[in-house]
Amino acid sequence: MGAIAATVGSAVGLGNIWRFPYEAGVHGGGAFLLVYVACVLLMGIPVIVAEFVIGRSTHKNVRGALRELAPRHKLHWFSYVCILASLMIISFYSVVCGWIVEYLQLSVRGLLHGHTPAEYEQMFADFVQNPWRCVLWTLLFLALNYVVLRRGLKRGIERVSNVLMPLLAVLLVVFCVNGLTLPGAERGVRFLFTPDFSQITPRVAIGAMGQAFFSLSLGLSCLLTYASYFKDSDSLVRNATIVGVLDTVVAILAGLMIFPAVFSYGMRPEAGPKLIFEVLPAIFEQMPGGPVWAVLLFALLFVASITSTISMSEISIAFFSEEWGMSRNRASILNTGIAMVLGTLCALSFGVLSEATVFGMTLFELFDYVSSNVLLPVGGIFFSLLVGWVLDRGLVRDQLTNHGTRTVRVMRPLVFCLRYVAPAAIVVIFLYGLLWR
Ligand code: PFF
Repeated sequence: MGAIAATVGSAVGLGNIWRFPYEAGVHGGGAFLLVYVACVLLMGIPVIVAEFVIGRSTHKNVRGALRELAPRHKLHWFSYVCILASLMIISFYSVVCGWIVEYLQLSVRGLLHGHTPAEYEQMFADFVQNPWRCVLWTLLFLALNYVVLRRGLKRGIERVSNVLMPLLAVLLVVFCVNGLTLPGAERGVRFLFTPDFSQITPRVAIGAMGQAFFSLSLGLSCLLTYASYFKDSDSLVRNATIVGVLDTVVAILAGLMIFPAVFSYGMRPEAGPKLIFEVLPAIFEQMPGGPVWAVLLFALLFVASITSTISMSEISIAFFSEEWGMSRNRASILNTGIAMVLGTLCALSFGVLSEATVFGMTLFELFDYVSSNVLLPVGGIFFSLLVGWVLDRGLVRDQLTNHGTRTVRVMRPLVFCLRYVAPAAIVVIFLYGLLWR
């Protein structure tokens, strides 16, 4: 129960509640959701199983595991790709965690109340352009993340989140019910659930695939690391299915919380990363007891985000300490230091550094795009091919069936997915995106 709860804690985070609605909004709603769900089923859950097999069979970090499982192939270089992806993600992710901290303190001080939707839009714009506040909250969040990692408070946080994550789900349901009663809500529901097939473009396919990998914490060995703590009696296929399904349900709930309100208040679904920060305050405004809901939601989002940042930090910390022989404390300082430098630059991407672009993207956008849409799917290809083709079949079977003590009915389709479907689908989406941009 503990290991699976921690894994769900890693998967469920701002990726579901902040990133999913904004990506779905930018990419046409229903068309995006359809491709997203297909990606979770055909690539997501199989690749989760693949990472679980590698992690649990070796009980090691990514580099150690690759060295042990494929000693002849020198595949452990791939661990550098994982470290790079995890550092890029924590750098821009902690900026959004900083935004959550800002909105949490605003709501606690009762300042998220009594304004019009247009004023809330202005409030967010003023905030992200203020270099001091954004950077300060990002650094503060990373410092807190460091304290948790350093002090070994991780288990405590996980125990707390075992209670708070279900509460977050309940809260999302309350917000959905509230959203559905708004005038014009059905337009939001239609936006999310009615796919317009003509809208499935290369950009949408790449975006949905990247979102699936990001939201499931997949392709950068995060789940591999967590699975190295699984017990031999845990069912890997069942655990992977639980993570995939719960994570998707939370994302859809977040969509159902946001889009009815977006349409009801005449806001723009394609607003981008700022979407939930403009829409949520407008929702609280109209709900009875709004200020209290606001504090509760931002506090729970804060907990959801720290369980995710802990898990992404764990990748480089395990690597620095196990491979480079650093103490855990030094490894945590190195991870936090890199994240603080890059995080500061990402935080400034909305203000003073908004003109500093690479390929037309600010640093924040670049880190987000390259990690989610490129590095994580490449990781997906790597792990699925490794388990599908390179690893000993007996080892894979033993892991999936817990040494023959469990029957796994989906064994053949699963292995088929890992060998052919998942890698081929990722390659096809890449080519589709590259050739038809
Ligand atoms: N899956 C997390 C979320 O949805 O917020 C983000 C994440 C965590 C990505 C851990 C990658 C990772 F290694």
